[in-house]
Amino acid sequence: MSGSGDAASAPGSRNRGANVAFARVETAAPGRRGGILVMNRFPPSACLGCALLGLSALLAHPVMCGAQAQQDKLREGKLTFNGSCRTCHSVKEGDHRLGPSLHNIVGAKAGSVEGFGNYSQAMRQSGIVWDEETLDAFIAQPDEVVPGNNMKPFAGLPDAEARASIIEYLKAESEG
Ligand code: HEC
Repeated sequence: MSGSGDAASAPGSRNRGANVAFARVETAAPGRRGGILVMNRFPPSACLGCALLGLSALLAHPVMCGAQAQQDKLREGKLTFNGSCRTCHSVKEGDHRLGPSLHNIVGAKAGSVEGFGNYSQAMRQSGIVWDEETLDAFIAQPDEVVPGNNMKPFAGLPDAEARASIIEYLKAESEG
């Protein structure tokens, strides 16, 4: 009886032993897995960083850091200026063409660039001081802002974004 009891308990204890051993393996396994998980946590977060960097490169303007975005804007402004204004204007000081040099034009009084002899009376007497707002309005519709101006045959730049980028560029030219 006791033999069979022993026999019964022996497998039981062996089972318990096995269970304990299994449990130990089980606790060891999550521990190991935990260790692996902890180790794995670095690569995913590093990849997340890469992904964010990649993403910011993809989304370019909005996510990019301010300086880079500003540089892009200036480059765009320069291109737009070259396309729309450079036939008649330079941003180099004293470099007058059909129109006056636009060096330092932001903050200047209209019709006051020294050495430029082709101003209309309308421009000289307009009383305008060039800031972002007046420049934007003038570039959009020159005749609306300074009726009788000489800036012909430039008809105005309807694209607000293009105007904004030109003004950024002119501002940078005025600051630098
Ligand atoms: C066809 C030649 C021509 C083009 C193109 C042209 N301009 Fe002009 N611009 C002139 C002339 C000429 C004047 C002088 C106008 C006057 O006195 O009435 C002038 C005057 C100006 C003035 C006023 C300058 C001052 O001293 O008060 C600004 C600002 C200006 N232009 C900006 C621009 C910008 C920005 C563009 C491009 C989007 C542009 N212009 C395109 C010929 C041009």
